[in-house]
Amino acid sequence: MPKHKHQIVPNPKPWGSIRSSLHFLIAALVATLLIVTVYLTQEYGVQFLENCTASTTIVKTSGDPSSSCNLFSGKWVFDNQSYPLYKGLQCTYMSDQLACEKFGRKDLSFQNRRWQPHECDLPRFNATALLERLRNKRLVYVGDSLNRNQWVSMVCLVESAVPPELKSMHTNGSLTTFKAIEYNASIEFYWAPLLVESNSDHPVNHRLPDRIVRVQAIEKHARHWTDADFLVFNSFLWWRRSNMSVLWGSFGSSDGIYKKVEMPRVYEMALKTWSNWLEVHVNPNKTQLFFVSMSPTHQSAEEWGVTNGENCYGETELIKEEGYHGNGSDPKIMRVVENVLGELKTRGS
Ligand SMILES: *[C@@H]1O[C@H](CO)[C@@H](O)[C@H](O)[C@H]1NC(C)=O
Ligand SMILES: *[C@@H]1O[C@H](CO)[C@@H](O)[C@H](O)[C@H]1NC(C)=O
Ligand SMILES: *[C@@H]1O[C@H](CO)[C@@H](O)[C@H](O)[C@H]1NC(C)=O
Ligand SMILES: *[C@@H]1O[C@H](CO)[C@@H](O)[C@H](O)[C@H]1NC(C)=O
Ligand SMILES: *[C@@H]1O[C@H](CO)[C@@H](O)[C@H](O)[C@H]1NC(C)=O
Ligand SMILES: *[C@@H]1O[C@H](CO)[C@@H](O)[C@H](O)[C@H]1NC(C)=O
Ligand SMILES: *[C@@H]1O[C@H](CO)[C@@H](O)[C@H](O)[C@H]1NC(C)=O
Ligand SMILES: *[C@@H]1O[C@H](CO)[C@@H](O)[C@H](O)[C@H]1NC(C)=O
Repeated sequence: MPKHKHQIVPNPKPWGSIRSSLHFLIAALVATLLIVTVYLTQEYGVQFLENCTASTTIVKTSGDPSSSCNLFSGKWVFDNQSYPLYKGLQCTYMSDQLACEKFGRKDLSFQNRRWQPHECDLPRFNATALLERLRNKRLVYVGDSLNRNQWVSMVCLVESAVPPELKSMHTNGSLTTFKAIEYNASIEFYWAPLLVESNSDHPVNHRLPDRIVRVQAIEKHARHWTDADFLVFNSFLWWRRSNMSVLWGSFGSSDGIYKKVEMPRVYEMALKTWSNWLEVHVNPNKTQLFFVSMSPTHQSAEEWGVTNGENCYGETELIKEEGYHGNGSDPKIMRVVENVLGELKTRGS
């Protein structure tokens, strides 16, 4: 048995443990936070609490109760001493889609960005400690290519600590599973860009001109991850259009009813299906949830101060302004996420 001296007691308020990152966080932050959650809950007996409008606060439950740290309030700093934490070229499971260096990217300073909360320091990443924490557990990322990116990063972060014969990667349909065999730990990705069923569910061929979504159907996806110990969802970019075709009935059946529904209403319908499923099927004492909504779109060079209507090609520096929301962000979507997650938390407790 691993020693869990300060192991946190299950959250007394079910669903109080939903981690919602409602702000415009660069998605990498979520990986960082997840690592931190996983560490701190074990190492220092730390618990996350947050309010549904904004930030996650980390509150020590052992030690000095007055010290707390808002992990969402911080900035990216340059750190070439301890970063990068892994080398893309050396990662056994790096995906070509994400392999910038392999395909010739020269500026690699983006790998030296470390998230620095204003109020505290994060512990240095330790792959062994993370695997220990994931022993006999499933960590599942569900969503679109942003979450797949997060998942690949997480796999690359830990896989170097595992010898070749003790790890595996396996794909079955929409689910891809990395296993650290000795730990019986798995880190998985499930493709579901709209969370609910849609005509974009094929893990490879999903770029279709007319997006059709079954806003009331999620079981086909959810049965693959309902029993996970950690669930990290994301869904936003695939909803960025003015309306979507909603299907009542099933794909391929002749009596299906199609109707155009506008944003953000259609997003809200899907998110409610998702949260209803979680409420009924996921045990809040066992499973920790994370939800990533908005992510920056970085499509226009104007955001970097170039005004001639170009895209982000060649931009290598961060936007330094703290609290910058990003040109593609949609406050209406944020309100929906706040409401649905807020309700889920309340209903669960
Ligand atoms: C939620 O957090 C924000 C930012 O930290 C704070 O200003 C606000 O008062 C909090 N709201 C509640 C209800 O705790
Ligand atoms: C880190 O960056 C600084 C400033 O750019 C540079 O002077 C130093 O040589 C770098 N150190 C390493 C180990 O790359
Ligand atoms: C990483 O974590 C393992 C397991 O908890 C521990 O034995 C090891 O000392 C840690 N390594 C560092 C560099 O902190
Ligand atoms: C291995 O991990 C799975 C979760 O991924 C768990 O259900 C199972 O009980 C674990 N096996 C053992 C022998 O603990
Ligand atoms: C793939 O997943 C399906 C459905 O969950 C399951 O029935 C099947 O056994 C899996 N196949 C492999 C090779 O794991
Ligand atoms: C639905 O979206 C399409 C493409 O974004 C647009 O051309 C069309 O006008 C929209 N229809 C309605 C009813 O808003
Ligand atoms: C979760 O834990 C609480 C307190 O230990 C318990 O009362 C409740 O029944 C548990 N819920 C589930 C779904 O197991
Ligand atoms: C975002 O930038 C694009 C391209 O410059 C511009 O057309 C669009 O109006 C901007 N959107 C917002 C919300 O500022």
